[in-house]
Amino acid sequence: MPTAGPPAGPTVTPSGDALGARISDLDLARPLTDDAFGFVLRALGVHGVLCFPDQTLSPEAQAAFSRRFGELEVHVSGAFQVPGQPEVMILSNMVEDGKPVGLGDAGQDWHTDMSFSRTIAFVNVLYALKVPRRDGRVLGNTEFCDMAAAYDDLPGEMQARLGTLTATHDFEKFWEMMRARGGDGTSRAKLTEAQRARKPPVSQKMVLTHPLSGRKLLYANPGYTVRIDGMPAAESDPLLGFLFAHQVQPKYRYAHRWAEGDVLLWDNIRTIHNAVADYGADEHRYVRRCQAMADLVFQPEFAALADVVG
Ligand code: SIN
Repeated sequence: MPTAGPPAGPTVTPSGDALGARISDLDLARPLTDDAFGFVLRALGVHGVLCFPDQTLSPEAQAAFSRRFGELEVHVSGAFQVPGQPEVMILSNMVEDGKPVGLGDAGQDWHTDMSFSRTIAFVNVLYALKVPRRDGRVLGNTEFCDMAAAYDDLPGEMQARLGTLTATHDFEKFWEMMRARGGDGTSRAKLTEAQRARKPPVSQKMVLTHPLSGRKLLYANPGYTVRIDGMPAAESDPLLGFLFAHQVQPKYRYAHRWAEGDVLLWDNIRTIHNAVADYGADEHRYVRRCQAMADLVFQPEFAALADVVG
């Protein structure tokens, strides 16, 4: 009598670039067992950016999956939330009845989400429902750079120096840059005093040790990092300018080309990212986004779940 083999588990297919892998045969709409979650964490620790194709995810299921990684952030703008689900935000260039349905220009330059927050972000979980295309070609990639590899390549003297430094990160830097650029012209109001007060500038170490991999990484980004603390601008500006150019070199990059049904999970501690704005107003993109903070991932029990740090 033929015997059945072990049930096929999820498989990891690396992108072949510095970051990125596809995870097949894992249904994120169903609660993950601890084993399955540990598998995802291990893959994330190795590859930094994971794509789960062909998913069908309600906002509730997206939030439940995302919440496994940490506390969910409600975006400071308070806008474009899924009704009844404020921690799920809509990113879209679509307009209905003359009104934008989502934040139209989210993340359209290099940055790290929430580096301006005292508790930094661990992961983003984006779910694509509409992907822009032109002549059959997919547009609106999300690009990533690997800050562990970028750190490894720095001269030892600079690594040692950065290890003693902190830098200030300010939410308003990116928000105002997008407003000045025109953005989508509709979805970014000037921040109110109350919103500013909720997101005051914060200092972060310039070198972090990743809680899952144990690797050191450069923690600075062009979107939010404004100055190195305790340094005159004449010294801080060129050093940041050098790091911003260093960290986006092609050798550190991976570009995710979206398909409808993709869930993209990425590690904000290890990566910086950029949403490529190469599509027009009539080329519709609609993505739901959750963000989990790094409140759990620095706890030893969490790393133990992933069983990756020696
Ligand atoms: C983001 O920066 O969170 C948005 C990325 C994207 O829409 O591709």
